[in-house]
Amino acid sequence: MQLYIDSANLKEIEHAASMGFISGVTTNPSLLAKEDPKADIRKLLLDIHKNVGGHVSVEVISTDTEGMLREADEILSWFPDATIKIPFIPAGLAAVRNLSNRNIPTNVTLLFTANQALIAANAGATYVSVFLGRLDDISTDGVQAVRDTCEIWEVHGLESLIIAASIRHPIHLLECAKAGAHIATTPYKVLLQSIKHPLTDAGLASFLADHKKMMDAKGTS
Ligand code: G3P
Repeated sequence: MQLYIDSANLKEIEHAASMGFISGVTTNPSLLAKEDPKADIRKLLLDIHKNVGGHVSVEVISTDTEGMLREADEILSWFPDATIKIPFIPAGLAAVRNLSNRNIPTNVTLLFTANQALIAANAGATYVSVFLGRLDDISTDGVQAVRDTCEIWEVHGLESLIIAASIRHPIHLLECAKAGAHIATTPYKVLLQSIKHPLTDAGLASFLADHKKMMDAKGTS
């Protein structure tokens, strides 16, 4: 399972990318607005793209097919390898079909069921983003939606890549990897939580202390 960072914060993205295990970035209008409501979106996205050098999903905000396609063309004029993120609404599905016919990668977002993911895949989505945290928020098992999606993909050999999105904690990451999601787009905080382990830190501290003892004994610290 590949790991993307779900963020529009350049510092977070730069730090995550510098560690070498991130393959992409997903953004959405809320993440962009959270950073700086006055930000130059084009510049910010270009900076993000430059830092990661991999997948960058950029979401359209139109709710009609024509508007979405116009926005997609604008985003692609900024960087031609952008993935166009499209909301799962009927107008969005038509936009996905159009972009897919032109071999432009799409990420269908705001999916909450395996059936929605299946429909998005049939419209030609390159990526389908299943939001699990928001399901958990309303007392519905979000991981189960990812498991169902992965099971359908396994049975039918579907080609769209499943992105587990709206990840809230490291256990979500673990469960999505076990379920067979291709990608988990993960907030910076959860990436750091998943890196950290007290035994790793304690182990390193004791290795360093023991090494220092040896150096001290030799008078070469
Ligand atoms: O990629 C989708 C994600 O941004 C949604 O996450 O935490 O707003 O539910 P959240």
